[in-house]
Amino acid sequence: MSSASEGLLRDQLGRALRDLRISVTDRCNFRCVYCMPKAVFGQHFRFLPREELLSFEEIERVARLFAELGVRKIRLTGGEPLMRRELERLVAKLAAIPGIEDLALTTNGALLTPDRARALREAGLRRVTVSLDALDDETFQRMNDVGFPVSRVLDAIEAAARAGLRPVKINMVVKRGWNDQAILPMAQHFRGSGHVLRFIEYMDVGTANGWRLDEVVPADEILDRINRHWPLEPVPPAHPGEVATRYRYRDGAGEIGIIASVTHPFCRGCTRARLSPEGQLFTCLFAARGTDLRQLLRSGADDATLMAAIRNTWQGRADRYSELRRLDTPSLVGTRPKVEMFRIGG
Ligand code: GTP
Ligand code: 5AD
Ligand code: SF4
Ligand code: SF4
Repeated sequence: MSSASEGLLRDQLGRALRDLRISVTDRCNFRCVYCMPKAVFGQHFRFLPREELLSFEEIERVARLFAELGVRKIRLTGGEPLMRRELERLVAKLAAIPGIEDLALTTNGALLTPDRARALREAGLRRVTVSLDALDDETFQRMNDVGFPVSRVLDAIEAAARAGLRPVKINMVVKRGWNDQAILPMAQHFRGSGHVLRFIEYMDVGTANGWRLDEVVPADEILDRINRHWPLEPVPPAHPGEVATRYRYRDGAGEIGIIASVTHPFCRGCTRARLSPEGQLFTCLFAARGTDLRQLLRSGADDATLMAAIRNTWQGRADRYSELRRLDTPSLVGTRPKVEMFRIGG
């Protein structure tokens, strides 16, 4: 496709398709209370059988078509993406696709050893984002619900940085009454580290986490708490439609981000498509259904047919769930069927 026609794929609200988030597995070794609560995702929960997952070859083929349609950035997610065997092999395939300028991974860090980090870097991964919800074990283990210690996530963050997967971003989901007391210790720990800590408002994704508005700590409150200790100033967005709003410490100790999808939705700039592990294409984190690309892939569809399916899905898209929720339609929350976060990635 010529560069002149690039980026012209627009949805119903004029938004271009720029990012592809690929979830490579629905499995996870954590049971975070806001994502995969143990009561729902216990021993007997049936995850997708292997044959239902897209193969690396299938994922690569789809990603190439997305790149031709204007995607420049790919993020690998899950579930926990490092639970997918030989992920490095997929990374190498995706890194080789013309047009892909940024290739990142979101992980809980449990499997991110120094060797794994180096192997991912060598395969062509550029950056990682590591989730960490507190700095003390008691709080963190209450959040991850599998007894995983803080120290091993901190080791993973350092392993990533040493391997050159920089800047490392740290995602902290804030849930009131659970880990909001960890906001200041987390800010203090990562000030001056060169890593970028991002606070995420607890969202009503999926249907399993029992989300309640009063458990959301609004971005303004998070900022206010930090600003009292270490004054902040805004930083302009690195690119239009950036998910996180950026701030820097006035004393030069680096920057933080806030992802305020509940109190300041950013649907207007939403350029993200999401591919689930079994090959469904979703155009919103809160969608109920996707477009079945796997069925096309496995019935021998040619590239033009697949591309048309992707194009039609994007062009037909009018999603703006977070904005509608914001416009005060409480009936949206909890009543609509929604895909689970661990299936399509954060
Ligand atoms: P960068 O590539 O570093 O800019 O990453 P990012 O800002 O896309 O961050 P990341 O993928 O780590 O996303 C951070 C969190 O923001 C996710 O875990 C989600 O909780 C939330 N998020 C990301 N994209 C969307 C979105 O399209 N809608 C909503 N509502 N939330 C999103
Ligand atoms: N609200 C906000 N963020 C969430 N994540 C998972 N579930 C939720 C939720 N309910 C985030 C995780 C991780 C990313 C994969 O998605 O913290 O950073
Ligand atoms: Fe696993 Fe990430 Fe969900 Fe936690 S938020 S259960 S680490 S997929
Ligand atoms: Fe995009 Fe849906 Fe998130 Fe809005 S709620 S930013 S449309 S994924």
